[in-house]
Amino acid sequence: MSAVQELHRPPEGQLSVRPLQPHIGAEIFGVDLSQPISDAVRDEIKKTILKYKVVFFRDQHLTPEQHAEFAGRFGPLYTHPSSSRDDKISPLHKISAVDFGRYERTADPTAINAGFHTDTSWRLVPTWGAVLRAVDLPEVGGDTIWVDAGAAYKHLPDDVKARLEGRHVTHDFREALNRKGLDYPIVAHPVVRTHRETGEKILWVNYSQKPHIIGLDIAESKELLSLILEEYRRPEIQVRFSWRPGSIAFWDNRAAVHYAVRNYDDFPRLLDRILIQDEPQYADL
Ligand code: SIN
Repeated sequence: MSAVQELHRPPEGQLSVRPLQPHIGAEIFGVDLSQPISDAVRDEIKKTILKYKVVFFRDQHLTPEQHAEFAGRFGPLYTHPSSSRDDKISPLHKISAVDFGRYERTADPTAINAGFHTDTSWRLVPTWGAVLRAVDLPEVGGDTIWVDAGAAYKHLPDDVKARLEGRHVTHDFREALNRKGLDYPIVAHPVVRTHRETGEKILWVNYSQKPHIIGLDIAESKELLSLILEEYRRPEIQVRFSWRPGSIAFWDNRAAVHYAVRNYDDFPRLLDRILIQDEPQYADL
């Protein structure tokens, strides 16, 4: 029998899943993430993430060690090179509103400034998953929005789909890395990326990493990127999550893009994030 029951009231020892929107976002109940989880529970959580792209848990007051232990059940953990992190648990990355440069808008006039992004898309093998845990929250505000980037692709008009066919878009994280004395090449991924596990076509652009569609002049690239951005901005394909103490979000970076709503003045909002490595999408030629 499946360890997940869709909707409400779980029998003892079973998870239950409450979808928050028809296609993206679900809350999972019936598991204590501070305790080791069984393989069956882990597999059901993963299945639910592949289906809903982002899942949420409430009232899970985890220590950093328990956070890392839980995330580590879903693959090897990734240590992000560029930002402030916990000294004791190196993959634990502090997502802090006061982190220099984190919410900075690029001055590059060729770029579209918009916050929709996906984590580590600047890498040749981006991380597949992210587990984000509330640490210090404003009284109100500071929500996060996730977008179903598969639905965004499906909804595009056919002529736009045709124009994007075979195109690649850049993911340039060098500015932030350079600030830390690090460097990495500018990577390009397909604009329409095929999800390695579900096979779904995903509209995959990172607006925080100076996207440019290769082979197009700046004006045409910007025009297409603006059309994609319009899709990301449609509330019909979004889920918006209001954080509370004990909240955890776990999402699939390959299927959803997200946006941190910064509407809490200078409150030092803090969340801890742990990223999970993916298997390479392409053979190492
Ligand atoms: C992130 O971009 O990974 C974190 C999102 C947030 O701060 O809400």
